This record gives sequence, structure tokens and C-alpha cells, in this order.
Amino acid sequence: MGRIVTIIGTRPEIIKMAPVVKALDRLDHDHVLVHSGQHYDLMMDRIFFRDMQLREPDEQFELKEQPPHLQVATTMRQVADATKGADLVIVHGDTNTTAAGALLARKQDRPLAHVEAGIRSFDKTMPEEINRIVADQLSDLLFAPTSTSEKNLRQENVTSGIHVVGNSVIDALTQNLPIAAKKSDVLSRLGLRPRGYLVLTFHRAENVDSKEQLAKALDAFEAAARESGLPIVFPIHPRTAKRLREFGLEKRADALTSLRRIEPTGYLDMLMLEKDAAIVMTDSGGLQEESCFFRVPCVTLRENTERPETLAIGANVLAGIDPARVGAAVRKQLGVKRDWPNPYGDGTTGTKIAEQVDAFLG
Ligand code: UD1
Ligand code: UDP
Repeated sequence: MGRIVTIIGTRPEIIKMAPVVKALDRLDHDHVLVHSGQHYDLMMDRIFFRDMQLREPDEQFELKEQPPHLQVATTMRQVADATKGADLVIVHGDTNTTAAGALLARKQDRPLAHVEAGIRSFDKTMPEEINRIVADQLSDLLFAPTSTSEKNLRQENVTSGIHVVGNSVIDALTQNLPIAAKKSDVLSRLGLRPRGYLVLTFHRAENVDSKEQLAKALDAFEAAARESGLPIVFPIHPRTAKRLREFGLEKRADALTSLRRIEPTGYLDMLMLEKDAAIVMTDSGGLQEESCFFRVPCVTLRENTERPETLAIGANVLAGIDPARVGAAVRKQLGVKRDWPNPYGDGTTGTKIAEQVDAFLG
């Protein structure tokens, strides 16, 4: 019997690792779940444990409001006791928690697995791209979502331990959609009709940490509302809310009557909001994948994406944050035929990962 240590810490890690954690719990190994504390608000953290019926972490740490380098350093220091006896450390995605867990495993000479390995934006100015590269270079087991991500790994001379298993975002969706359909009343609560609104999320450092960029993005949201003639529902990430305040842009946001800023939603509400949207506009990784699954057209408010599969099938377009370009992208996506296939697997990623982990531990 081996000892698995899985490290999570942010909203997307909790959501996408929930099905993986459940599958690993069913194995005949010790499985320790560690939470770095990178996300900590009720609506960024606890809500997802409840919505996804995920068990409590065995070890919960606190990070709150630290700069990125200290998020990594503090997580390495705090988590070290939990990982030191591990037969396998598992990290997910591309956050500072991911990089900390990967470096820690290597420094402690523990085997490492990376879930969602090999996705690349090829933009090293993004903190996430650095975190992905670090985790992939250090991993013994690499769970790549698609053949594109496998190819990216091989191009970086990572050739062993790769398993193409789909993306556990689909497991999370398929497991929770029937529950969301029963439990969520978000559309009626917000007075929305199906296909009668756009849903927006926006939180990338490169988009919201500069006043100029964030102001331009508000103009882009206005252009999207004008082009579609629809209201925009905007569950706002705390990073973005903080920047709007700091930059004195709240009044400008308030003046956009079509922009309905709301608190971040729970997972079940988000699924229903996405499923019935006319369009998803986002700079989130997860929303590009989820909208693709729902066959809801996506406009990505970035210049690149590590989800090129969604572009290739027409589910998604890159629009940056230039208002005219975003308006044109919204027009195009409103008219797109919604018949693309889902490139991210059949919802059995968690089970496939657990099988490979079991084989690895022997
Ligand atoms: C992080 C990830 C990003 C991921 C996102 C998911 C890194 C480098 N970035 O970005 O890849 O897409 O999570 O949402 O790890 N805050 C709160 N409450 C919270 C969490 C954050 O108020 O529960 C505020 C704090 O002011 C914090 C800021 O948001 O300083 C940024 O949080 P942080 O975790 O550093 O980065 P994210 O922008 O959330
Ligand atoms: N999400 C949510 N409520 C929100 C915004 C996002 O439940 O208000 C979910 C969304 O459905 C997806 C995940 O959070 O599963 C995406 O996380 P995020 O955008 O924070 O991170 P990224 O995917 O960009 O790393």
C-alpha cells in the first residue's frame, strides 16, 4: 500500500480534481488531500467542496494575500511535512500551488504526477505558462488531456510517463449537471431567459492588473452588449473586483447598465449559467472547455490560448480586449453552428488517472 499526496489550492483545482480525488480515494492506498489555502473566500473555496460533495482536506493551510513568490515559498514550507513520506505527489494545472507542489516533490526526491499536463499558450509572460512548464519538466507521470498536449510535451523532450486521458473537467460536468439541473434556480433568481444573456468571467493578471487594460476591457464589454443586444452576467473574481476599486473604475463599470456584476457563483449555478448562455466571454481556461462541452460559443478575451482544440473546431475565437474586435467576435459567434465535437474526453479521466496511479504504485 502506497501513500498518495494530492495538493490543491484554487477554485479550478478543487473543481477539476474533485472527480480525480474521489477515484483515488477508492484505491487501496493512503490518500492525503492537502489544500494550500491559495483561495480562501467562501465563494472561491468552501462552496465547491459543498457543491461537488468533496471530502474535507486532511491538511488545510493558510496563505492569504501573499505575493506570488511567497505563495510558492510558503506553500513549499507548509506542505513539506505532508509530502516527505509520499510515494506519489499529485498536482493539477498551472497555479502557484501547482509550481510549489512540483518543486517540493522534486526537492524531497518524491515521484510527481501532473494532471492537465502539456497544455501550452507559448506565452512565457503568463505566470501560468511558467508553472505548467515547471510541473511538466519535473513529473514522472503526465496526464495529458489531448494528443495536442502530448505533442507539446514531446517537443520539450518529455517523452516518458505520458498518458492521454482527457480532461477531468468533463468528469466534473457530467457528474454534476443532473444535480445542477435539479438544484440550481440561478436563471429565475436573476430573471434571465435561456439564450437571452451573455456570461462573462475575467480575472487574468495580464488583463486586470493594469488600469489601462481593465478600462479598455470595460469598453469591450460595452461593445459586446451593444452587438448582441443582450445583458452580460458577470460573476466577478475577487482579483478583478479589487482592481476595479483600486483603479477608480467602479463608477465606469456601474455606468454600463448591461453589465450585471454579481458575486462569484457556486459550481452548480455556473453550470446552468453557461449551459443556457447565448455566448460565453472569458479569459478563464475552464470556461473555454466547459462552453465547448455545452456547445455554447465562446469568445476568449486573450491573444492566445492553451486550449487550441476549441479554436480548431470553431467553438471558440480569440478576440483580445479591443472593443471593435470583441464586438466582431461576438457577432461571428452568435451565428456559429453549434455542432462541434467535445475534444476533452468522455468523463472517465478520473478513473483513468486512478488506474495509472495504481499501476505506478504497484
Ligand atoms: C489564480 C491562478 C490562475 C487561476 C485562478 C483561478 C496563479 C499564478 N494564478 O489566479 O491561474 O486562473 O487562480 O481563479 O496561481 N483573492 C481573494 N479571495 C480568494 C482568492 C483570491 O480575495 O479567495 C484575491 C486576493 O486579493 C489575491 C488575488 O485575489 O491577492 C489574486 O489571487 P491569487 O490566488 O494570487 O491569483 P488568482 O488571480 O486567483
Ligand atoms: N466558476 C464558478 N463560479 C464562478 C466562476 C467560475 O463555479 O463564478 C468555475 C467554472 O465553472 C470553472 C472554474 O470555476 O469550472 C474555472 O475557474 P477559474 O476561471 O477561476 O480558473 P481557470 O480555469 O482560468 O484556471
